[in-house]
Amino acid sequence: MKINIQEAERFITQAYIELSKSNAEIERRINAIHEEIAQTGTYTHTLEELTIGAKMAWRNSNRCVGRLFWDRIQVVDAREAVTAHEIEAALFTHIEKATNGGQIRPYITIFKPGEDGPRVWNHQLIRYAGYETEQGVIGDPASVAFTKICEQLGWRGARTPFDILPFVFQENHAASPTYTEIPSELVLEVPIAHPDYPGIAELGLRWYVVPIISEMKLEIGGITYQAAPFNGWYMETEIGARNFADEGRYNQLAAV
Ligand code: ARG
Repeated sequence: MKINIQEAERFITQAYIELSKSNAEIERRINAIHEEIAQTGTYTHTLEELTIGAKMAWRNSNRCVGRLFWDRIQVVDAREAVTAHEIEAALFTHIEKATNGGQIRPYITIFKPGEDGPRVWNHQLIRYAGYETEQGVIGDPASVAFTKICEQLGWRGARTPFDILPFVFQENHAASPTYTEIPSELVLEVPIAHPDYPGIAELGLRWYVVPIISEMKLEIGGITYQAAPFNGWYMETEIGARNFADEGRYNQLAAV
C-alpha cells in the first residue's frame, strides 16, 4: 500500500484540531508518522484517530441522509481480527450490538487495512437472497448475482422470498472466500402489516431492521480500510418506496 503523506498530514491536522490538541502535538504526531512510513511503508492509526476518522468519514458522506448523527457512531476496532473465526465473531457482534433489541444504534466495525486484512463480499451484512427461476425471480432480484456466488461456494437457500444470505468473506486477499450462515436469532425482522388493510399482511412481506453496508471502503488519512461494515437506521421510504416497489426489486405495487 502506497501512503499519500499529504493526506495523512491533512487528516492529522484537522482531526487533532477538532480534538483540541496543541500544535506541538500535531507536529510530533506528523513527525512520528513520517518516520513510521519511512521504516514500514505505512502507518497505524491510534484508536483515537480511527474513531474521529470514522466519524469524519460519515460526516463527509454527502449522499447519506442520516449523517446528522455522525458524532454518535460506535467505532469498533477489529484490526486484530485475522482468523475466519475472529472475523465472523466481529460481524456477529456488529449485528447484535447495532440491532440492540430493536433500539438501533449506529456502528462501524473496522478491520485491518490492506492485503493482510479481510474482505467482505456482501453488499450488506443482512440481505435477502434472489433466485432466478422459470417463473421469474424468487426473493430480491438485486441479490441474484451474489446468491449465485454463495451457491457456488456450497451454500443452499430454502428458496423463500426472504432467505437471509450468509456472510461471504476472505481472511485476507490471498485466501479463498468462505461463507457462514448468520444465526437466525441475531436477525431481527419486521412483518409488514397495515392497520386498515388486512390484505397487506397477506402479502407476506417482511424486512430486516438494520441496513449494514459492507461493500464501501473507508478512507482515513491516506489509509484505505477495505472492510469496514457500518450502519445507521432505515428511513421507511427506502423499504416501502424502493425495495418493495421498484420493478427491479420486489415489485409489489400492483399487488398492493
Ligand atoms: N437503501 C438501502 C436499502 O434499502 C440501504 C442504504 C443505507 N440506508 C440507511 N438508512 N443507512 O437496503
